[in-house]
Amino acid sequence: MIKESEYKKRRETLAKKLSKNSITILFSANNKTRSNDTNYPYRQNSNFYYLTGFKEDNSFLVILKGKKDVKIILFLQHKDEVYELWNGKRLGEEKAKKRFLVDLVLLSKDFKKSIKELSTNIKYIYTDFNEKMPKAKKFLKDNFSVHKDIAPLIGEMRLIKSKSEIKLIQKAIKITKKAHHKAMSINKKNKNEYELLASIEYNFKKNGAYSDAYTSIVACGDSANTLHYISNDKPLVDDELILIDAGCEYEYYASDITRTIPVSGKFSIAQKDLYNMILETQYKIIQMIKPDVLRTDLQKQAEILLTKGLLSLGILKGNFKKLIEGQEHKKYYPHGIGHWMGLDVHDEAPYLDINKKEIALKKGMVLTIEPGIYISKDDMNVPKRFRGIGIRIEDDILVTKKSYKYLSNKIAKTIKEIEDISKNVKSNSNFEEV
Ligand code: GLY
Ligand code: MN
Ligand code: MN
Repeated sequence: MIKESEYKKRRETLAKKLSKNSITILFSANNKTRSNDTNYPYRQNSNFYYLTGFKEDNSFLVILKGKKDVKIILFLQHKDEVYELWNGKRLGEEKAKKRFLVDLVLLSKDFKKSIKELSTNIKYIYTDFNEKMPKAKKFLKDNFSVHKDIAPLIGEMRLIKSKSEIKLIQKAIKITKKAHHKAMSINKKNKNEYELLASIEYNFKKNGAYSDAYTSIVACGDSANTLHYISNDKPLVDDELILIDAGCEYEYYASDITRTIPVSGKFSIAQKDLYNMILETQYKIIQMIKPDVLRTDLQKQAEILLTKGLLSLGILKGNFKKLIEGQEHKKYYPHGIGHWMGLDVHDEAPYLDINKKEIALKKGMVLTIEPGIYISKDDMNVPKRFRGIGIRIEDDILVTKKSYKYLSNKIAKTIKEIEDISKNVKSNSNFEEV
């Protein structure tokens, strides 16, 4: 849980970064239409949530910074019996005044009028350019002249996680662990990818995570070679591997975990060879993590290790130096080694500072480490035994004062750990948590 005092502190920290005589307006997320008159489940905008912890739509956070003082105002929707009958309770003005440590709580229906009254002597307006809100944008354009982007200022704060944020990430990972372990332990014979997906989603929700942090990937065999495979609708084939990239969101905080496991419960020799090479690489990269290291150092080292591994397995051929120069690994390892993670799975936090210099690792950052190798079933340049195999191993790591904390280290990962869990398969095991 994140206390109101922490949200208040965040708003104060942000206010210090703002120009004098400015107004900052942050919008809650819009409801998003799924089709015709049905919506997707509502999910608050992460920047808005980071500064308020408030989950209702049609609300606005305003920070007024004058010459000397700062005033913080939250606009929210009024109580409305009819609306609430259909859509659920709203917090309302009275309770909001008690809960939020802001200077003023006002009603959203008065937003436009109040903003005009509040914004005399204002030179600058900050807002979140990433939100796609045509109406709000038009309103701002019509009423204010000099616009500044607030997102990078919030992004640099979001880069460093507080203790309470880390606890929520840890909780998300704990729930994700249960879902992955269950996926490893159930009998997958004659099942489909979507049945495994259903088990994962069931275990997220059963353990208190209302949503996934991103659309899960459950990809059997060659499907794992499509990086953003989300159709998840093919049969599980007995001697193939399944790449499962699935992480829940717990109280708005993400986890991002990939495990690659055998349908039958046992890895073949070729699968083991490739898997262990990627696993070794992942361990070595994780061990490099500490303050002042650059993500590009991790990336380069991963490319070196994977190129060496691919050479030793006969997947790449030729001279190591030339292969590196030609970036030949890109055919089999085309993505990055990892990314920031937090309120968003790809956290909206900067990779470069204002001088366009890469931001080095620092205590409190959370990132993923996710090497993978993807070999198409049609790749005739590769020994036959490796064709149609896609493997990624992904974990979540916290940077500490001197090194790192391996947040997801309890999720089975070695071949022995995965096969041991798979041994517990009972012929009648169902997809629910036991
Ligand atoms: N699940 C998204 C990613 O691994 O980056
Ligand atoms: Mn990831
Ligand atoms: Mn992932």
